[in-house]
Amino acid sequence: MNSFIKTKNGLSKLYDYLLNLKYDHQFSLKTNSSVQLINMDVKSKSIIHARHYQATHYRLFFKIMNQLSLPWNKFNFIDFGSGKGRCLLMAGMLGFKEVFGIEFAKDLCECAKSNRESFQKSFPQIHLPPIKIINEDALNFFPKTKNNVFFFYNPFDGVILEEVLQNCSRYSPPGSRDYYIYINPLRDYLFGPLGLKEIMKLESSNHNKKVKIFTNSS
Ligand SMILES: C[S@@+](CC[C@H](N)C(=O)[O-])C[C@H]1O[C@@H](n2cnc3c(N)ncnc32)[C@H](O)[C@@H]1O
Repeated sequence: MNSFIKTKNGLSKLYDYLLNLKYDHQFSLKTNSSVQLINMDVKSKSIIHARHYQATHYRLFFKIMNQLSLPWNKFNFIDFGSGKGRCLLMAGMLGFKEVFGIEFAKDLCECAKSNRESFQKSFPQIHLPPIKIINEDALNFFPKTKNNVFFFYNPFDGVILEEVLQNCSRYSPPGSRDYYIYINPLRDYLFGPLGLKEIMKLESSNHNKKVKIFTNSS
């Protein structure tokens, strides 16, 4: 990598770092610091397949949503491995119909709940949709809502992802239009066999972060 690109990436990382701090402060949230799962209260055996907590950058989240650009009030947002709840609250602000966060670390669910309260206290004028924080292994979540945006910030390896994707595609109600956002898509080969088509690819210039979006809809 030449030094111009290195400097550009370094500046971009710094910019994201500062933006994350600014928005956490502005929205009265505490979502920024990463957490290793070894220090967390996790009952599930799936922990050996899991990735630690790290929040999606605000800038990346809004870039993805801008590209996808759906009528949010007709869709539900489901974050698999929702951590401290940053994406849940941002999805709530966008105006999704209902928002679900599935997170197996109890302590992270508590953080997400306290972030939800803190946001609502600071912005009582913003009407958020129901935001449900579910302390559960992603393997045990079966979507019952129609028209969903499933969100995965590379939360687990292929063993868990394959089963979760099967649950999403089998249990989502008939006629449901579903979108799958996959950040850092290391196991993108698992989507095709389920009949899910890739409709969008985003290459973030910073952090080499790639995003792929898949759908069941034609
Ligand atoms: C990279 S973080 C993403 C956090 C959040 N979705 C975001 O984008 O800001 C991955 C999260 O997935 C959670 N996780 C990993 N495996 C899980 C599983 N099997 N069930 C539920 N949560 C899981 C971790 O505890 C961690 O909080």
